Amino acid sequence: MTIDELIPLAPREPAITADVPTTGPLTDGFGRLIKNLRISVTDRCNFRCTYCMPEEGLVWLNRDDILSYEEIERLTRIFVAIGVEEIRLTGGEPLVRRDLPVLIEKLSVMESLTSLSLTTNGFSLKQMCGDLVAAGLQRINVSMDTPVREKFKHITRRDALPQVLEGLEECEKYPQLSPIKVNAVAIRDFSEEDVLAFAELARRKPYIVRWIEFMPLDADGQWERKDVLTGAEIRAIIETKYELVPTSDDRIATAQRFRFADGKGEVGFINPVSEPFCETCDRIRLTADGQFRTCLFSTWETDLRAPLRSGANDAEIERIIRAAVWRKEMKHHVNDPGFQPASRSMSQIGG
Ligand code: GTP
Ligand code: 5AD
Ligand code: SF4
Repeated sequence: MTIDELIPLAPREPAITADVPTTGPLTDGFGRLIKNLRISVTDRCNFRCTYCMPEEGLVWLNRDDILSYEEIERLTRIFVAIGVEEIRLTGGEPLVRRDLPVLIEKLSVMESLTSLSLTTNGFSLKQMCGDLVAAGLQRINVSMDTPVREKFKHITRRDALPQVLEGLEECEKYPQLSPIKVNAVAIRDFSEEDVLAFAELARRKPYIVRWIEFMPLDADGQWERKDVLTGAEIRAIIETKYELVPTSDDRIATAQRFRFADGKGEVGFINPVSEPFCETCDRIRLTADGQFRTCLFSTWETDLRAPLRSGANDAEIERIIRAAVWRKEMKHHVNDPGFQPASRSMSQIGG
């Protein structure tokens, strides 16, 4: 049986088969160790980025369907006990969920976690950053697609660049919060003219600026291959002015990282379309309504909320998680003929 035949096309739960490991570190069927859990805390957002959400009409999850902080805490403990070491909180926009620091506090005391981070659009950071750090947040990624106010308004459908910049400045006040990363989705005929301004931001400020290739995860289904501005193209623009030197750390990262040859600043390129990094993927995802996804592009998911709410014990939930992870997709199929879009859009998965 080929791997493509193994990837189910319709939403369904993976079978618990004899070959699924019942102990040991969390591993998929291709031998990849799973260490990184991204938890979406809400599907709601106060922006409407064109590459992510429709302007209006997206139906929100019901409040009752969303996992409580206690439920997230319980699931996270199970994940951490079997090998997850890094947690990233996402949305929608995670800061629109009430009392997020309460959740961060619950997660930050889990001993074997090496990283607790947040991906946010930055709109509420000025007000909330202090509370997030006090609760134990360690790292932050802020989405900012352009440093030009009019363009920002166009792409997010909100005139909010000043708030995001203020939010970033607020982050700088907390040395415990490090690194500070800026994520810009790169779109052809939109992003090119901002590249050098972003490079200069990375040199002037203690921010690692990263460009993300546009992926077919937009709710409007408008993605076209021709709109993907690749990381290599962006790098070439930067190299018209600066020399870049590759750099890295031990973490399994989405981004190829570079520092400037004169030592001032760092940038990164997340190239899931032109240079997929699925082979080393160590990521899994939990949606706000308690559905477990083993790939950003999954066409199936596993319900963890139902067992959680119907009294399953930790061992039973662990078995369900292990069975799903065992069937983690080998790779995404964005570059293959007959590509099937994911079963949710980006704002419902959390990136
Ligand atoms: P770091 O831990 O700081 O390296 O964060 P990250 O890059 O994993 O997280 P972030 O939330 O900043 O994600 C940046 C972009 O990378 C988002 O658009 C994500 O969707 C994308 N990304 C993250 N993980 C994956 C993945 O497993 N597959 C693909 N294709 N894209 C991913
Ligand atoms: N393609 C690439 N990145 C996207 N993001 C949202 N939608 C897309 C898309 N279609 C990014 C956001 C944020 C992260 C969570 O995902 O800008 O940085
Ligand atoms: Fe909101 Fe993030 Fe989607 Fe933009 S990319 S609409 S900030 S969830």
